[in-house]
Amino acid sequence: MKPANIAEGIYWVGATDWNIRDFHHVSTEKGTSYNSYLILDDKKVLIDGVKAPFCDEMLSRMRTVMDPADLDYIVLNHMEPDHSGSIESLMNLAKKATIIVSEKFGEESLARTFHRDWKVMPVKEGSELDLGHNHIRFFPISMVHWPDSMADYLVEKQIVFSNDAFGGHIASSKLFDDEHVLDEVMHEVKKYYATLLIHLSESIKRAMQKLGALPIRMIAPSHGLIWRSHIGKVLENYRLWSEGVTNEKALVLYAHMWGSTEKMARALADGLREEGIEIGVHDLCTTDRNDVMTEVLDSRALLVGSSTMHNTMLPPVASFLCQLKGLRPKGKLGVAFGSYGWGSGATRAIEQDLKLAGLEVVPTELAFKFVPTTEEMERCRQFGAAIAGKIKSLASATLS
Ligand code: FEO
Repeated sequence: MKPANIAEGIYWVGATDWNIRDFHHVSTEKGTSYNSYLILDDKKVLIDGVKAPFCDEMLSRMRTVMDPADLDYIVLNHMEPDHSGSIESLMNLAKKATIIVSEKFGEESLARTFHRDWKVMPVKEGSELDLGHNHIRFFPISMVHWPDSMADYLVEKQIVFSNDAFGGHIASSKLFDDEHVLDEVMHEVKKYYATLLIHLSESIKRAMQKLGALPIRMIAPSHGLIWRSHIGKVLENYRLWSEGVTNEKALVLYAHMWGSTEKMARALADGLREEGIEIGVHDLCTTDRNDVMTEVLDSRALLVGSSTMHNTMLPPVASFLCQLKGLRPKGKLGVAFGSYGWGSGATRAIEQDLKLAGLEVVPTELAFKFVPTTEEMERCRQFGAAIAGKIKSLASATLS
């Protein structure tokens, strides 16, 4: 297999995972890529590896331009196995290579992952590596996505190797942002942010301050497409997402048993729509929760409903709220609703979880026995219209 030349002396030697559909419980319906980059200068450097099953593919691309035994350095920006899984096999070949990791957490992560006595060079903020004609400057960006996460700046070429940041799970026959449908690429970058990074927004703001100040010709992330034509757009979206900027948008999310909670959801959505609020209405039994989470990112309110079963919410709602509690999006309103038979419990449990997820819960009396009456449906519609005002009054700039 051949590498792809992305700049003078710099090659993509990664792998495309066309068929992965679940990336540690994040749905990846468009597959993904593990981007690995080779810099050929007086010193030979590999930036990040690939997931273990793709090691031979990475090696075969490398071998068309150099012998892996001649590698001087391997930069491991992040120890998660989608990047480090191939390192053990690679180090069996690249015996003279030194592994470069972030000083603060990378060294420990490497030791605890591989338990091997490899040559390691920990680097800190602003450390530089002289390759001969080029220099790499290192920028630890802790918690984007793990404590060890790091970005590298190839000074003379103005290329940022950003690891997980600015990446998205998308498999493509193309390498660059201007060779693929931009909306599709950006949607996957948004999904990546919403499902894996939203709770790390403060760390991302700090990383943006460091990287945003650099002159950048290319951002080469470890997943998805390389940014060369829409760098400003992806940086601006990261800024908006990390600052918690949202739209006048609400999501009505529910699961139901015999239709009553779904009727309530539709009435709530109608009230919101009448007041001009952008809405998304999702049955959590049939919509992937990661796709819902993607919509959460720029929404200002979540109205979450469930029938009561066994005195609590239905499992698909619990699964969604479990993810929400981990991701803790800031500056959003939460509302619980639902129907019950002889014992209510779902709405109380939902409210509790919404609070634990950090949402401002708006109290309601929207828990109705068996099938809602016409009057109760009208109360739902009116509540939707009323909360629209509160959604509009939430200033997006205050949400970070
Ligand atoms: Fe692509 Fe956090 O690993």
